[in-house]
Amino acid sequence: MHIHHLAKETSILNKFLTEIRSVEIQKDSMRFRRNIERIGEILGYELSKKLATKTNQVTTPLGVKEIETPVNDIILCSILRAGLPLHNGLLNYFDDAENAFISAYRHHPNNDDEFEIVVEYFASPSIEGKTLLLVDPMLASGRSLVAVYDAIKKYGTPKEIQIVSVLGSSEGVEYISKFFPENTHLWIADIDNELNSKGYIVPGLGDAGDLAFGTK
Ligand code: URA
Repeated sequence: MHIHHLAKETSILNKFLTEIRSVEIQKDSMRFRRNIERIGEILGYELSKKLATKTNQVTTPLGVKEIETPVNDIILCSILRAGLPLHNGLLNYFDDAENAFISAYRHHPNNDDEFEIVVEYFASPSIEGKTLLLVDPMLASGRSLVAVYDAIKKYGTPKEIQIVSVLGSSEGVEYISKFFPENTHLWIADIDNELNSKGYIVPGLGDAGDLAFGTK
């Protein structure tokens, strides 16, 4: 798996990351959602450099210009509900992508820290021969992402997979690298070293779904 850890190179992205991590700024859930969306736009721009291209001819008022643009064969697949703002950010740039949604949640059968991932709802077009963008804002244990990948396989074999994430743990990144094909790209804003016993990234940012959707 090719890992693109974007916060390593200082840019405006780091300002948005600072804001989504900050316990004070997080109180403004509209700003939190918009920052996740802005990070999605940056990740989308960066990964667009790696997509296959086609030549377009555009007619201007004064002539004709040939421009290379990414081929539009993208399926954006997101996990409900935390994935929605990141999905929106990517859709701002890949505005005619097809979309897939899945619900996945953690079930604790013994009411302790052990959990399994339950996939309940899945709606996807065929992904056969397409570019699959798997969108998961918090790559914590990596188990949801692998469960989603297993579930989406019945919709076909994609040409390539680009995973898009805001924050990950080193453990989660290592875990998913065992399950995805070698030519998979991971586009991730930042990676933290720790995962606590409840599966939260430390220092991380907290619960991305609750913060985006105002759950107290
Ligand atoms: N999901 C979150 O929202 N935050 C984490 O730290 C881990 C999973």
